[in-house]
Amino acid sequence: MSFESLPYTLRWQEDVLYVIDQTLLPETFVEIPLRNIDEVYVAIKTLQVRGAPAIGVAGAYGLCICAQKYLNEEPNLFMQNLGYDAKYLNSARPTAVNLSWAIKRIMKRLYACVQKSTEEMYSEILDEASRIHQEDLKTCRMIGEHGRDLIQDGFGILTHCNAGSLATSRLGTATAPMYMAQEQRKRFKVYADETRPLCQGSRLTAWELQKAGLDVTLICDDMAASVMASGKIQLVIVGADRVAANGDTANKIGTLGVAIMAKHFGIPFYVACPTSTLDIKTSCGYDIEIEQRGHDEVCFFGEKRTAPVDINVLNPAFDVTPAYLISGFITERGIVRRPYENNLKSIF
Ligand code: MRU
Repeated sequence: MSFESLPYTLRWQEDVLYVIDQTLLPETFVEIPLRNIDEVYVAIKTLQVRGAPAIGVAGAYGLCICAQKYLNEEPNLFMQNLGYDAKYLNSARPTAVNLSWAIKRIMKRLYACVQKSTEEMYSEILDEASRIHQEDLKTCRMIGEHGRDLIQDGFGILTHCNAGSLATSRLGTATAPMYMAQEQRKRFKVYADETRPLCQGSRLTAWELQKAGLDVTLICDDMAASVMASGKIQLVIVGADRVAANGDTANKIGTLGVAIMAKHFGIPFYVACPTSTLDIKTSCGYDIEIEQRGHDEVCFFGEKRTAPVDINVLNPAFDVTPAYLISGFITERGIVRRPYENNLKSIF
């Protein structure tokens, strides 16, 4: 078994976007078709498709789906309507910069279409969406190749949430070095944090690593410190939703705690991400908008209520890990080390 057995997260076929419905994993594997703007918006908002790079690709194809509706309009109106749709799709999730990055790329290509028919504009933006998709596939592989040397025989690696194949077009960011190290026949163990409240670690990371034949052990989030203390972890790799210019990094809620623990135990803590996740216009982590999600995600475990009715709840979906806790960024262009302010700028 290897990563070759992993499915593609998104697929474009006959003008329809198909995504794996990740809310149903690990019990049910099903691809759902997205045929209009509301279906795309809901799929992103409800995490049927999720993970920073994957929602970027979904947003790009999503705009192509929107465009199909306006093919019979005047070119100006075609562009104007797509401008409104771009804003709407972009509002589905605020923290991962890849969504707005991909939407901006599509709109830039569209605005470069001077004196073209709506059909021509449609094929231009579809070409751009397909490029974003293909680039993501390549980028993940390169992140894997740059990151695999960090993994040594006998290592225990901790990861949080799912920055895996399912969060990208395929292979993942945090998981890509693991899949590439597996290809080199290195022997190592992966510990997957469950990642409450939505359990992307247990539902998705554990599922895909197991499917690919990696040695994966699931732990609850609150077990990470004791697992580190027991000496089982030599490396932490997580993903990112947005990296500020100074290296502060937004990722799934709980990542900050993992980074603090890694520092305490002297364990290297790496962030794996494509350069599209860097937001050079955001100077530091304080300026990153953190998505706040519904209370039911915290008050229920599946169908079962696990908290009193009307309890006060906080549910930030992400937190920010300050740059000084990060050992390096594994990107498709190599590993970026300190000083981040300079080195991120030059590599991105
Ligand atoms: O809310 P999610 O499931 O979209 O959050 C996903 C994460 O936080 C990932 O770690 C991040 O997007 C990186 S994906 C390669």
